[in-house]
Amino acid sequence: MEPFELLIHGASEVLTCMGEGTAEQKLAPIAKGAVGIRDGRIAWLGTEPPVRGELEIDARGGFVGPGFVDCHTHVVFAGDRSGEFEQRCQGKTYLEIAAAGGGIARTVTATRAASEQQLIELAMPRLERLLRHGVTTAEVKSGYGLDVESELRMLRVIAKLRDRTPITLVGTLLALHAVPPEFKEDRAGWVKKVIDELLPVVAREQLARFNDVFVEQSAFTHEEARACLHAGRALGLLPRLHVDQLTANGGAQLAAALGAVTADHLEQISAEGIAALAKAGTVAVLAPTSTLFAKARPFAPGRALVDAGVIVALCTNCNPGSSHSENVFLAMGLACVENGLTPAEAYLGFTRHGADALAEPELGRLQPGSPADLVIYEAESYRALPYHFAMNDVAHVVKSGRVVF
Ligand code: NIG
Repeated sequence: MEPFELLIHGASEVLTCMGEGTAEQKLAPIAKGAVGIRDGRIAWLGTEPPVRGELEIDARGGFVGPGFVDCHTHVVFAGDRSGEFEQRCQGKTYLEIAAAGGGIARTVTATRAASEQQLIELAMPRLERLLRHGVTTAEVKSGYGLDVESELRMLRVIAKLRDRTPITLVGTLLALHAVPPEFKEDRAGWVKKVIDELLPVVAREQLARFNDVFVEQSAFTHEEARACLHAGRALGLLPRLHVDQLTANGGAQLAAALGAVTADHLEQISAEGIAALAKAGTVAVLAPTSTLFAKARPFAPGRALVDAGVIVALCTNCNPGSSHSENVFLAMGLACVENGLTPAEAYLGFTRHGADALAEPELGRLQPGSPADLVIYEAESYRALPYHFAMNDVAHVVKSGRVVF
């Protein structure tokens, strides 16, 4: 047998995330495991490598696991909302700031004014920080353009960023993120424009895989979301929803009824909403950093969701307003301390379950044939990641078999 192109050995354990049963069983570790890589894919997993590697990495007793999948981000944006953070520290709420003309609208003004090149340059360091935190796949949303041209520009920026970062980027159209200022008196007009003009171009040019809507008092109604997601689905765009974040709005039940791939946020989800997600198989995406940063407590009931049988994914939700952070390990730590997840469940939230949230069953797991996206840690166990609170124990990141960090 030819040598592997890359052989990783000397690990305390390799977490394959291929098991079934409890969260701990799902991690399916190989004690003192090694990974052989060829052609960007995993060629071999086990304890006694059959051949050497052309290149070898000694994990020096750290553990190895799948690259992280950050399934909900807004990393393409211009402008700064530090003033709003200060206002929240002084007692104003996220919704009060939005109602006074700040919030998403402020980022829309800055993003519309930025060139494609500026948006690329602004997004690059954010992606670099995600990479250093072990992220090898990230979803990125539009939603700060809110006119046809600017939404398309955001999605084209996401497409162009693919040539600049090793991270696999998955695009999501979020044209119903807030009512554009031009349509304040005619919100139906914007929904119609999105359905008639924007969605067909996005689908034709394959600019997004998902179609997302923010269902909230300050944003869109159930009926508007339903119309947009139906139209998107007919064009091949998979539905997902921001729901039950700031106010309880029955959005989880809507996500379940529409067969959405994910229901995101869920701080205010009801018992009926939890049961509906479990029945529909919709993945719950929790964004604990934004619950903290936007001061939008309570934290989503992660424990109750897991206990009801819902697949729970985690995300950084990196954006300028509600979660100005690329810190995967802060999200993981909060998910344990505040959402009630165990360390194993939190780790799955950014690996296997994060991949499930993007309908990418090959990712977030390590098995022969799967993409060689993996992380080598300084820590001996996944338990150290949420425990070493908000700190980064990543030693190396490998993407498609190449060492990228
Ligand atoms: O996911 N909830 C809506 N959208 C973002 C916040 C965007 C912003 O404030 O700029 C979120 O939290």
